[in-house]
Amino acid sequence: MKHLLFITLLIFTFSISKAQEHEIQNKVEELMSQLTLEEKVSLCSGRDDWSTMPIERLDIPWIWMADGPHGVRRAPATNKAGYGDQHPATCFPTASALSATWNTDLIYKVGQALGEECQALGVNILLGPGVNIKRSVLGGRNFEFFSEDPVLSGELGAAYINGVQSQGVGTSLKHYVANNVETMRMYMNSNVDTRTLHEIYLTPFEIAVKKSQPWTVMACYNRVQGEYGTQSSYLLTDILKNDWGYKGIVISDWFAVVDRVKALKSGMHIEMPHPGNVNNEYLLQAIKDGALDEAVLDEAVKEILTIVLKAKSLQKKDADLKEKEHHAFARQVEVEAITLLKNNNEVLPLDKKKYKKIAIIGEFAQAPRYQGNGSSEVKPTQLDNALEIIKKEYGKGVSISYAKGYDLKNDNDFSLIEESKKIAQEADVALVFAGLPLHYESEGIDRKHIDMPASHNKLIKEVSKVQKNTIAVLTNGSAVAMPWVNDVEAILETWLGGQAGAGAVADVLFGKVNPSGKLGETFPAKLEDTPAAFNFPGEQGDVLYGERIFVGYRYYDEKRIEPLFPFGFGLSYTQFEYSDMKVSSKQITDKDELEVKVTVKNTGAVAGKEIIQLYVSDTQSTLQRPEKELKKFTKVELNPGESKEITFVLNSRDFSYYDGKREMWIAESGSFTISAAASSRDIRQTQTITLNSEQQIPLMVDEYTFVKELWDNPQTRALIKEYIPKWIGNFVPEGKTLDEANIPGFFLEHPLIKYPYITNNEITKEQVEELIKRCQPLTYKPAYKQFEEKENVSF
Ligand code: BGC
Repeated sequence: MKHLLFITLLIFTFSISKAQEHEIQNKVEELMSQLTLEEKVSLCSGRDDWSTMPIERLDIPWIWMADGPHGVRRAPATNKAGYGDQHPATCFPTASALSATWNTDLIYKVGQALGEECQALGVNILLGPGVNIKRSVLGGRNFEFFSEDPVLSGELGAAYINGVQSQGVGTSLKHYVANNVETMRMYMNSNVDTRTLHEIYLTPFEIAVKKSQPWTVMACYNRVQGEYGTQSSYLLTDILKNDWGYKGIVISDWFAVVDRVKALKSGMHIEMPHPGNVNNEYLLQAIKDGALDEAVLDEAVKEILTIVLKAKSLQKKDADLKEKEHHAFARQVEVEAITLLKNNNEVLPLDKKKYKKIAIIGEFAQAPRYQGNGSSEVKPTQLDNALEIIKKEYGKGVSISYAKGYDLKNDNDFSLIEESKKIAQEADVALVFAGLPLHYESEGIDRKHIDMPASHNKLIKEVSKVQKNTIAVLTNGSAVAMPWVNDVEAILETWLGGQAGAGAVADVLFGKVNPSGKLGETFPAKLEDTPAAFNFPGEQGDVLYGERIFVGYRYYDEKRIEPLFPFGFGLSYTQFEYSDMKVSSKQITDKDELEVKVTVKNTGAVAGKEIIQLYVSDTQSTLQRPEKELKKFTKVELNPGESKEITFVLNSRDFSYYDGKREMWIAESGSFTISAAASSRDIRQTQTITLNSEQQIPLMVDEYTFVKELWDNPQTRALIKEYIPKWIGNFVPEGKTLDEANIPGFFLEHPLIKYPYITNNEITKEQVEELIKRCQPLTYKPAYKQFEEKENVSF
């Protein structure tokens, strides 16, 4: 009862004050002293499909979780799966579309709206966002993830979480980590090297955790470097908790737990979904046997109770779903996501004076494809379709004809094309709605190719033969090949636009709004061009991340491959000019922040929004580095003739690489190019700066360090000279010093462990050990350059 009172006190506040936090902590301590061992164990798994375990005796409530990410998929009851019978909620555009907005403020608002709907539906934790990297174009869940780039994914993820959590509703950042393939998803081992893991796959989670502290993180199904994500202490404790300072709890993906005892020890709190009777027994037994310290369980239970009490205390009564408001908002969101990929002769926006007869072709115009398949499927509160909206809102003064174009049940049925050609020929412009049917993109199944159905491709090709003004309006959650790219006049990528997407498409087609989306993922010309082409989906339970850090545009840059449409690309009905790029200093240290300014002007005739991307390139480096990497971005709105100066702030992390051997980020001295760009292949302004790093890096000398490394390094050369065998003297020219000796390559190219052998024991094993000991405390400033300066490449 006391507990209920406490909850009521906190109701209607959206965030917890310090005093309330303190109160929750006291309550948790009080409960801990009353819980039995069995009760504590029971709290570490779900009660049923969607709720946590309550303990009535102590008035410990349960809380409700629901999928996410682009809408609330709330089942009719916590013990029902909720596929098909879920409660209606607003279906927003899916993550691919959200990422194309590049608008963190907008995504925050999407989060707010989702949080409001959770409150209205009694949901305490929304299972999203998904910040997994789109490693391969074939990934079955690409529609549910933001981007191929870690910074874009992480920033949008953080904005989403902050938005949801501002409403007193928690989130679940998923799926931690390297969950990039659906094939054998419960077992697949993501065989990824440590450097790549940090630079590409962990970074979005790191950004989101540090900037938004999600209440929960969802541990993945797959294994990472051989260990299940649900039981990796490296991932859950060392990195998530210790390195990043994560304060919330970790829940498992549904049925992801394998070794329950190991999982708890590693930092995984709640096993979802069901009461793990079998696993609870294991936990109890382990404690009884002494294999699991009860203190570990206590720590986990305290953290679980903290989240449960916080969630319950922030739950609102009688919150409104705001269906109408959110439907209108979902349209606005999609408006910013729509990405104009081609617009020859400014055929768009449609000028009704010029195009009096409009042919609308393709069943998607009438039966929209607006979200992906799987656990994220929302039951929309209403559903718009383009045909109806265009007729209703834009149909005055024009005549509109419609043909179905293809049969969604048979990809190879071309019988509807003739009729489509006929109406296209009679019209002044043809809008062909095509893309990927629902079963092409699904959780649990990877794609086998990147083609649209044959019937859709043929339809576009055939229509464009009879109608010069053919516009392809695409609906798909991930990249597709476009064999007809040169045949059509315009291409509008509309993604999976959510329940109100059709209205947004109409708004863009008729110029009510200027499109401002840009690609958050590269569209390749063909599958063979893609980074993971040879290593996807993997085999025999193992997937090799062979492209390493060269994911997405990093790969196309390195290989000099021209994609169909590059990362960060999107057109507008206006033009933007970039000028006056300035940096606050040309010389910085790793302690400094660098301000970068650039002015952007709308030089066209209509208002529009521009996404400005800031890339950093390390021009010389010890380790191989990508040509350039996205570090910052922003979106600005400009009226015709208006200009704005944008400021970005970079710090040493933005110049760093992750050293997998030393397990640390290293900002290396040297010169860096900073580029302000309209896309990854459209660099508008650059500045070069020099970084003088003061960072001290451990040398890390061991028996496998090569003699050459110690000889080449001025710090260790002095030392190693004491251990040079006498016969090297033969290579010292007369009158010269040892430094000038022409030391034979075979000697330098050996690790220290071989020293006794190659010197015929002149230098003994003990002396090698002594040398290593003397080197160990040494550090250096990272400026050693191994790779040649890269030639400047302009695309
Ligand atoms: C998915 C998660 C989802 C969970 C609950 C799992 O199969 O991987 O993303 O949140 O089911 O539906």
